[in-house]
Amino acid sequence: MVKNEFPRIIVRRGAPLSGSVQVPGAKNSVLKLMAATLLAEGDFVFTNVPSITDVHKMAETLSALGVSSEWLGPHELKLTNSGNITPEVPFERLDKMRASINVLGPLLSHYGSARINWPGGDDFGGRPIDLHIAGLQKMGATVEESLYDIFAFADRLKGTNIELALPSVGATENLLTAAVYARGVTVIDNAAREPEVQDLCNMLVAMGADIEGIGTSRLVIHGCERGSLSGTRHSVVADRVQAATYMAAVAVAGGDITVRSARTEHMEALFNLYARMGVAITPQRDGVRVTSHERLRAVDVITEPYPGIATDYKPLLVAMLCVSRGEGTVTETLFPGRFKYIEEFRRLGASIAIYGNKALVRPVYELIGNDVHVPDIRAGAALVVAGLAASGETVVHNIHHIDRGYDDLVGKLSGLGADVIRA
Ligand code: UD1
Repeated sequence: MVKNEFPRIIVRRGAPLSGSVQVPGAKNSVLKLMAATLLAEGDFVFTNVPSITDVHKMAETLSALGVSSEWLGPHELKLTNSGNITPEVPFERLDKMRASINVLGPLLSHYGSARINWPGGDDFGGRPIDLHIAGLQKMGATVEESLYDIFAFADRLKGTNIELALPSVGATENLLTAAVYARGVTVIDNAAREPEVQDLCNMLVAMGADIEGIGTSRLVIHGCERGSLSGTRHSVVADRVQAATYMAAVAVAGGDITVRSARTEHMEALFNLYARMGVAITPQRDGVRVTSHERLRAVDVITEPYPGIATDYKPLLVAMLCVSRGEGTVTETLFPGRFKYIEEFRRLGASIAIYGNKALVRPVYELIGNDVHVPDIRAGAALVVAGLAASGETVVHNIHHIDRGYDDLVGKLSGLGADVIRA
């Protein structure tokens, strides 16, 4: 059979979903954990690693810097930092990942300099990195920005007090990894509290770092001697966005499923919201049972930093609102430009109006299958979810975006009985 060079996902409405699905480790954690291997010589073994293209890209970037990788199993990755590191990302590695900026903090703090390319990532409008840079400067780094790259250097970073204007996930992570080898104590106030940031903190502590306040908005990092951290073994925290995706799938398609390994304590706000929409949620020993038998009820939602409703859940919520009873709204507070995908929902017959940073979703009789084009990872998954509730056939194009962050979305949905194929 000839392999399609531009594969698509084809979805049809089918029977209610049933069975169970396993949630893998989080993209937004594993990439940062991988970058942190630049902080210490030795072996790192990561388990619960998602099989996604961004992990392979990050492994390639690390390999260009001097960290080698070896798959020990489908979800077990060994990275080895043998100490022979070149702290410059080659220009030709124009990473399309946001997380590529996460090598900055470790390189600078351990090797005294770092040259990195401007980070890519999903296009949600402007995604500045001023907070990363201002924080590093406050720690004593000189940062030179050019059209092509960012070059930062510091003989040795020094601990200081940093108050972030916004609880930025990426800035918190970069400053945290920079601070582990700084001279003295670094305090990061208004730090991001996301489970993925906590996961990074936990790994750094296992490597020998001294961090207080993990999971709070004040992180206190006592710098240790350069090079004193060591390799470790770490299981990547479960991906709450992938868990939310399978929950949204059963919410719109109906049925009764178990989402295994979902970390229920990380998803409380979302569980409450789904429950208000009419989805029954029962936390279990290793995950959560999710049932949906009626038409969903519309709600008004505002995205917020953790522990609020994450911006990454938003396209899924839009998909659910499209098939709900009544009018609902989703207000975006983090990335005002994150509404590009609305046009694709409209192609399925959805009635959505945008007012500034708010999407008003009106009820329609039904969604109707059509060709849609994926603009980013989460919107892509949400379009597949919407296809589960649409009449006819929904053909999802540009699915390489989905592959960046989803570990076999099609296989997992098929395993739940959904009529979905990759062709
Ligand atoms: C990460 C996640 C992304 C998620 C986002 C918010 C990764 C790879 N990506 O992105 O999926 O949607 O957190 O949970 O983990 N900001 C500034 N200046 C900065 C940095 C950020 O103004 O220097 C602003 C951003 O424009 C945005 C807000 O802060 O409005 C939050 O961004 P941030 O938390 O940094 O997101 P990312 O780390 O890029």
